[in-house]
Amino acid sequence: MLSERVVNEINQIQKRYLDARACLLPALYVVQREHGWISPDALEAVGDLLNVPKATVKGVSTFYSMFRHRPIGRHVIQLCTNVACMIMGAERLVDILRSRYGIEPNSTTDDGRFSLVIMECIGACGTAPAMLVDSDFYDNLTEENVIEILERYK
Ligand code: FES
Repeated sequence: MLSERVVNEINQIQKRYLDARACLLPALYVVQREHGWISPDALEAVGDLLNVPKATVKGVSTFYSMFRHRPIGRHVIQLCTNVACMIMGAERLVDILRSRYGIEPNSTTDDGRFSLVIMECIGACGTAPAMLVDSDFYDNLTEENVIEILERYK
């Protein structure tokens, strides 16, 4: 279930912790980074690897909203459409993404390249509109540069 690379990385992480349960968050992060989401099989595999009960692994992974439990695109676009971003044209950016990639909010492109999530303020109101692509932050978005930015993500 888990690749050799993921297993090795989790084993390395575990060496930094006295209690296996304490390294659940970084271990789950490694799995999600590798697969885009955390499947039930992956949850079980992490539990087996760390010798932590499956219920504990599941409890931790479902507590934090940063972990995803269904398949998602290779790249996640989190676009803010809250007040400042809306005033500065975020809704128009949603339309552009819809027509360029055929993607609706809270959905994934057919090729699995992008998932689009509409989010609340990400603290960049002064340079709105703003978005995250995976963990990369972009602000001062325009109709022109949003596609230019996204085309860097294959
Ligand atoms: S409203 Fe979009 S960053 Fe604040």
